[in-house]
Amino acid sequence: MGGVRLAVVGGDGIGPEVVAEGLKVLSAVLPDVETTDYDLGATAYHRTGEPLPDSVRAELAGHDAILLGAIGDPSVPPGVLERGLLLRLRFAFDHYVNLRPAKIWPGTATPLAHPGEVDFVVIREGTEGLYVGAGGTLAKGFPHEVATEESINTRVGVQRVVEDAFTRAAARPRKHLTLVHKTNVLTQAGGLWSRVFAEVSERFPAVQTAYQHVDAASMFMVTDPSRYDVIVTDNLFGDILTDIAAAVTGGIGLAASANINPTGAFPSMFEPVHGSAPDIAGKGVADPIATILSTALLLEHLGHPKAALRVQEAVAAELIARTAGAPLRTAEVGDRVATAVS
Ligand code: IPM
Ligand code: MN
Repeated sequence: MGGVRLAVVGGDGIGPEVVAEGLKVLSAVLPDVETTDYDLGATAYHRTGEPLPDSVRAELAGHDAILLGAIGDPSVPPGVLERGLLLRLRFAFDHYVNLRPAKIWPGTATPLAHPGEVDFVVIREGTEGLYVGAGGTLAKGFPHEVATEESINTRVGVQRVVEDAFTRAAARPRKHLTLVHKTNVLTQAGGLWSRVFAEVSERFPAVQTAYQHVDAASMFMVTDPSRYDVIVTDNLFGDILTDIAAAVTGGIGLAASANINPTGAFPSMFEPVHGSAPDIAGKGVADPIATILSTALLLEHLGHPKAALRVQEAVAAELIARTAGAPLRTAEVGDRVATAVS
């Protein structure tokens, strides 16, 4: 096992707390992890005036992977850190596959009365769509003000994420892939997504396909999520659907994600789906499981599937042992999982 050079960005709020537990588990399962901490987020922004200095971005690019906690703080206007740091990293490192697994772990409380077997993965496009910031504001502050926000969808961008989704679906037992969009209204972007999806599906005859509009998919995700195996969708639909997916599978405290650059040209970045939760920051009560499960995705991505499985098994044991309503201490959860994988 070669050494892993890991860049660590704790970030804001509960970010540093949960990342500390992720690192505990990671170093217990993989002996040779060399970490470098990067001070980014609200505090660094107030100090330097820059969400992500170019020199720091260049240093991050030299790592094998990035582990990120959470970004966002009430002291910074909305969008500054989200766009200037988190999205800038996703775009700069071409993280076009935003992988977000959703699974009901045994023993986990779900709001669904009869959930069945829920174990799917959402592949959210990560570099295009409404997130690119195209558009503008005219006549700002005037009664006739106009704001536009354009969704950018390129054939190359859609094709590469759709191909990745088919490849991942083909490797799973159910081999089922659902495209989610809104082709009845968004005919330009939806047309491109549908045509590319149909073209790529010809090369994957073993994968069964389905299409759903995003409103219907949102409904099925809360009424019958066990129908899904792999979902591929655009950046904003994927953002919304994965919060719904988290809510029906035990809450945002368990939801892991990977921002992957499959070409390996840039480091991939692993982060919990949840935000910085300033209301509970510093109290040691945040659930580190989402971050710990993100380290399992990191291990898988770097070619350590057995280590990833050990982490997932230890998490499963931790969740089974939990009693609903019992107080949770961030560091204790990390200690238990780290001990279980050692
Ligand atoms: C997420 C978050 C981000 C997103 C925000 C913080 C920019 O909600 O990772 O899902 O919208 O992608
Ligand atoms: Mn989100």
